[in-house]
Amino acid sequence: MRLLATVLFLTAMTVGAQDAPKQGGGHVRPPPKNLKVLKPADIGPMMGAMRGALGEKCEFCHVEGDFASDEKREKLTARQMIEMVNDVNAKFPDGKVHVSCYTCHRGKTEPAMVPPPAAPPAQ
Ligand code: HEC
Ligand code: HEC
Repeated sequence: MRLLATVLFLTAMTVGAQDAPKQGGGHVRPPPKNLKVLKPADIGPMMGAMRGALGEKCEFCHVEGDFASDEKREKLTARQMIEMVNDVNAKFPDGKVHVSCYTCHRGKTEPAMVPPPAAPPAQ
């Protein structure tokens, strides 16, 4: 449930649902068949949150038309990152969620190591 809390916290920052799988209208989303870290209920909110956190489309991680496929390196990396974020949050003494994908990624695929040159020095 800790992960889901992260997700709900993040949902406000996610981009629209235009790429989300259709529900209703004749389309029924098939049950997930290749989950190693998430629960089925996490998929909707978590996928949108990761998309927003990295500033990318679903296809950044997914082979088009086959969400279950593990062919893309980015999906494997994302799965490791989900586990890493869970580990980090589990180490906070208050048991609350403090770190999300967005904490580091800020809408980019590669988090910055140093502040941008134009940034004023911290006081
Ligand atoms: C940053 C990478 C990333 C992005 C962006 C992303 N996903 Fe995922 N997605 C994953 C990972 C990792 C899993 C597997 C999670 C697991 O192993 O528990 C997954 C699993 C899924 C599954 C379950 C597939 C199955 O059958 O097991 C669906 C459906 C899905 N994603 C849809 C989407 C949609 C729709 C979007 C765009 C809104 C999206 N994803 C964006 C990384 C991503
Ligand atoms: C502690 C900071 C941190 C957090 C939190 C974090 N990441 Fe990352 N992530 C990184 C760094 C740093 C890299 C670049 C690593 C590299 O270049 O090898 C990266 C790279 C990635 C990549 C590969 C991007 C590419 O261009 O191939 C994916 C995908 C990714 N992260 C997904 C996620 C997801 C999804 C989450 C949340 C579950 C997450 N990350 C949380 C630091 C973080």
